Amino acid sequence: MSFRLQPASPARPNRCQLFGPGSNTKLFPKMAASAADVINLDLEDSVAPNDKAQARRNIIAASHDIDWNSKYLSVRINGLDTPYWYRDVVELLEEGSERIDQIMIPKVGCAADVYAVDALVTAIETAKGRKKKISFEVIIESAAGIAHVEEIAASSPRLQAMSLGAADFAASMGMQTTGIGGTQENYYMLREGAKYWSDPWHWAQTAIVAACRTHGILPVDGPFGDFSDDEGFRAQALRSATLGMVGKWAIHPKQIALANEVFTPSDAAVNEAREILAAMQDATARGEGATVYKGRLVDIASIKQAEVIVRQAEMIKN
Ligand code: COA
Ligand code: MG
Repeated sequence: MSFRLQPASPARPNRCQLFGPGSNTKLFPKMAASAADVINLDLEDSVAPNDKAQARRNIIAASHDIDWNSKYLSVRINGLDTPYWYRDVVELLEEGSERIDQIMIPKVGCAADVYAVDALVTAIETAKGRKKKISFEVIIESAAGIAHVEEIAASSPRLQAMSLGAADFAASMGMQTTGIGGTQENYYMLREGAKYWSDPWHWAQTAIVAACRTHGILPVDGPFGDFSDDEGFRAQALRSATLGMVGKWAIHPKQIALANEVFTPSDAAVNEAREILAAMQDATARGEGATVYKGRLVDIASIKQAEVIVRQAEMIKN
């Protein structure tokens, strides 16, 4: 056990991140009125090259004109391998309002990618006298990103969240699939002739969760492409929540309620966590480090597990 305490992650709800193309201004008021915790206005892959400049203008205008209420407002810039990203940052922060909370950096491959954006953002904030310090989120969606995930998680005090981007990740890894998240037909085990599907995203998710938890960053599950498949989305989100992720993207409004439901601890889970804490309090008063709750062992580690659930529920309620 390290003597270093694990840092807390930002105490804000991040159950659902709703995306919309910066070129589609009709969606902006609908996004602002949605039940998503985080809004991601996109300049990257949902915007065609010829629309990039106009999408920037749209997002800058929307940062001034639209009431984003209590939403955490994030803008996804273009990747560092494109000619667009520096103008995205310069125009957004020179002309966008102080309402912008966060910049999302896609396809991050190493800590220096984040450092480069940090240097530019810091210079503009100082030059323009911006009051709010912009935070960052990154997408792990390449072989390099997952190979360097820990140094990326440690890369900047601005960094608050990290998502797995399944589609670009699969392409970069050379995975034989065109699915965006979820069950993959060819990823199964065989037992006595029966197929049992396994989860090809699992290892990347746990690598992201471990890197995030080490450095006090929010781990987030990215998109689920088939927005007609509610049960598929729910199954993927439940697995992510079980592994320690705090939320998931929505690429269609249908997915918002599903994400909010999965990433809000249920009343039953919160009640059970509170009962475990009470049982452990009684045990501690009796001078015992372990006790029995509903026929199973609970001990000092159970306090920490129960506190994760109670803390998450209380943070969402506030
Ligand atoms: N945010 C808010 N509202 C949205 C929305 C979004 N991302 N996507 C669709 N809507 C609205 C539509 O405007 C429509 O509203 P209406 O009932 O007032 O007419 C309603 O939800 C139903 O939309 P629907 O007709 O089912 O979808 P569509 O064909 O208009 O759009 C997509 C489908 C996938 C093109 C669209 O959802 C979208 O652009 N998603 C985001 C893509 C993105 O940002 N990708 C980058 C991250 S991976
Ligand atoms: Mg991507």
